[in-house]
Amino acid sequence: MCGIVGYVGPTVSSRAQGVVMEGLARLEYRGYDSAGIALVADDAIAIRKRAGKLANLLADIDAHPLPASRTAIGHTRWATHGGPTDTNAHPHLGGPDGKLALIHNGIIENFHALRTELSADGVAFASETDTEVVAHLLARAYDGDLTAAMRTVVARLEGAFTLLAVHADQPGVVVGARRNSPLVVGLGDGENFLGSDVAAFIGYTREALELEQDQIVTITPDRVDVIGFDGDPAQGKAFHVDWDAAAAEKGGFDWFMEKEINEQPQAVADTLLGRTDETGALVLDELRISEEQLRSVDRITFVACGTSAYAAMIAKYALERWTRIPVEVSLAHEFRYCDPIANDHTLVVSISQSGETMDTLMAVKHAHDLGALTLSICNTHGSTIPRESDGVLYTHAGPEIGVASTKGFLSQITACYLLGLYLAQLRGEAYADDTRVVLTELQETPDRIAEVLDRLERVREIARFMADTRSVLFLGRHVGFPVALEGALKLKELAYIHAEGFAAGELKHGPIALIEPGQPVFIVVPGPDTPHGLHGKVVSNIQEIRARGARTIVLAQDGDTAVEPFADEVIRVPRTSPMLQPLVTAVPLQVFAMELANAKGLDVDQPRNLAKSVTVE
Ligand code: F6R
Repeated sequence: MCGIVGYVGPTVSSRAQGVVMEGLARLEYRGYDSAGIALVADDAIAIRKRAGKLANLLADIDAHPLPASRTAIGHTRWATHGGPTDTNAHPHLGGPDGKLALIHNGIIENFHALRTELSADGVAFASETDTEVVAHLLARAYDGDLTAAMRTVVARLEGAFTLLAVHADQPGVVVGARRNSPLVVGLGDGENFLGSDVAAFIGYTREALELEQDQIVTITPDRVDVIGFDGDPAQGKAFHVDWDAAAAEKGGFDWFMEKEINEQPQAVADTLLGRTDETGALVLDELRISEEQLRSVDRITFVACGTSAYAAMIAKYALERWTRIPVEVSLAHEFRYCDPIANDHTLVVSISQSGETMDTLMAVKHAHDLGALTLSICNTHGSTIPRESDGVLYTHAGPEIGVASTKGFLSQITACYLLGLYLAQLRGEAYADDTRVVLTELQETPDRIAEVLDRLERVREIARFMADTRSVLFLGRHVGFPVALEGALKLKELAYIHAEGFAAGELKHGPIALIEPGQPVFIVVPGPDTPHGLHGKVVSNIQEIRARGARTIVLAQDGDTAVEPFADEVIRVPRTSPMLQPLVTAVPLQVFAMELANAKGLDVDQPRNLAKSVTVE
């Protein structure tokens, strides 16, 4: 969580402030409990910070303008230690003269011990944060060289952190350090940038440098120097950012989420792009894991959180069917604690849109320690999880800014399916379906998603009509079950309405007691030609709850008339084969949750208590 921006330019002007404030606006999705900025000007630190959204900071700066500068750092916070107040907002000043300013993303786990030590030495603290402890340590270690001071201090810190610091006596220098939290360098012409991700500086440069763990970076207007925590010189890995600033703007929609929902056909198409050769065979040579290693895999474990874990649950159905390799799905934050069984024939696949989710990162590291092959399905270049994995399969959804994942989810399912089909191809056969047929249909799916997007007016009306609803249930079977879970999650996080998703077959084992007259229930119905008579079973489930007074809102394929007698509402989706249905059925549920939150006057892009990347455990 938390967004971090640093800038250093050639001349004293308003540019440093402008760059950092723009970066903060782009990073606000990472946390919006408070925001702050510090500039080096006239041998002193000028600082403004305010609790609440960035708008509060902007208003404060308007009322109390900041001086011109060439060096600035800025922070947007998702609170961990210390509530979301003005004083706990970053930057934090260090030293009795307040000549050092520091911002931080992550958690300093040993901060209590360090704080006790500093307090005993007479240091007075202005805030309750773990960050301020580091600010004071740095100020005390400073002896004219901020990089050297950073090296001394990081050796004393436990936990995960990205730190950026400036010192009034060293104008034109920003020093950053990272361990298990994100930090990327933006390479400008006579100016340089630091950011939690490239969105921080995308308006200024698309050339960037990826840092490794445990590295310190020092930027000046014309130099970028990287060293390890051990002091050895190091080099970041240069990369070019292939999306532009406009992609991070709302593009005429009211909400980023709305824009991202509408980008889903493109996100899926881009994720499929360039992954077949001229014969139509899948080519995933970017995986960085050899075909031989992949052929030897006899067990697959997915690790992920939230929406990404639902993508993994969907993937399990497909991968087991196509590869006959046993697949399990573990919530990443539970993985380590269930004493997982893994060896060098186990493929642990992490799914993370941000590539920074700490729970998922820790699961990947644990898998690595167990000797498993680790593969990251990720949307964010330069992020930590792909770098810590043996292999990576990028989704190409473009930047996802809305806190609730939408195009990230659909592109994750697509990437998982590519992986499943590729493994099936490597093993010489697809056990149950013809991989080429599935692949062809997958390539047609962007058009099916676009069709769904064109016919959602009734979903919007239903959402507006249900703005006062207190509880909604979602049912599904097979791949429709994780879609039901995802529909419930979207409603909870966006509209703050109690919602639960169930496997429809589980209903009669308890949850059916929740059904009372008027209870709204969404049912994700599999297509009529789904094997094992699944369609008929779900239609029976609809009858069972309708008989008990439920208000049934049914997602059914075009032409499925069997549901009509038992549905209060039917939302139609185009026909697809069973495995591809989540790519169309998830969309109306996303729109329903967004529209309902909108009808309640809530902030769709930044729901309360949440942040886009969850970089704490
Ligand atoms: C819900 C949502 C979250 C994320 C989860 C994992 O809409 O977005 O549940 O899916 O926090 O995030 P990533 O995929 O970045 O690891």
